[in-house]
Amino acid sequence: MRKVFITKYFVVAADQTIPDQHWNPFTQLTHSRRDFLRNVSVAGAGWAIIPDLSQRAGRDKPGEYIDPSTPRMGVDFLLNKEKVHLDIDPRVTLLDALRENLSMPGTKKGCDRGQCGACTVLVNGRRVNSCLTLAGLCQGAEIISIEGLADGDNLHPMQEAFIKHDAYQCGYCTPGQICSAVGLLQEGHAHTEAEIHESMSGNICRCGTYNNIVAAIQEVQSGIGHSKAHQS
Ligand code: FES
Ligand code: FES
Repeated sequence: MRKVFITKYFVVAADQTIPDQHWNPFTQLTHSRRDFLRNVSVAGAGWAIIPDLSQRAGRDKPGEYIDPSTPRMGVDFLLNKEKVHLDIDPRVTLLDALRENLSMPGTKKGCDRGQCGACTVLVNGRRVNSCLTLAGLCQGAEIISIEGLADGDNLHPMQEAFIKHDAYQCGYCTPGQICSAVGLLQEGHAHTEAEIHESMSGNICRCGTYNNIVAAIQEVQSGIGHSKAHQS
């Protein structure tokens, strides 16, 4: 039940599509601000109740009209360690495929043109803007989205660090920030505070939590040699 709540809460909060205008996460729900922040940051916590990807793979958006003259293409890849097959329009971006075809709304759409980093996911270990990546070009790739970072109920160390350092406010940019931070550590070339700021400059945070984000990254980075951090 709690996971159902978390999933609904995360999607509502981060998509900013509040279904009931009287619904207020701080008053009608008896959760503290920290609970709210935690729920927003741990998109992966809801993944466990999402049905097997293979049950949804290849489906188009509900009610979507498909012009029979539109070319289609098949593509297979690993998404959060599960095999996925899609039969899609070759023009569909990875971002839209994740959100609309695979029901993985943790990855956010901000600018939809490569400027904000909200859509960042890991493709073969490298951070990419999924809004600029065609899903059809991901044949054989291993893709990790925010839903795939946690290990069951155990959050990824970067997720834990974001919570600890209050590295977000509204949470909209947070999935992309966390994926980008995990990718940055795997790149291994940002060590000073200034270098981390520079390497994370593709991820915009309108709430201005940059210093907290860098603090979270530095904490994970400082313990990465001996921590249980699972590189995804
Ligand atoms: S939504 Fe992809 S960079 Fe902004
Ligand atoms: S936490 Fe609000 S945009 Fe980053």
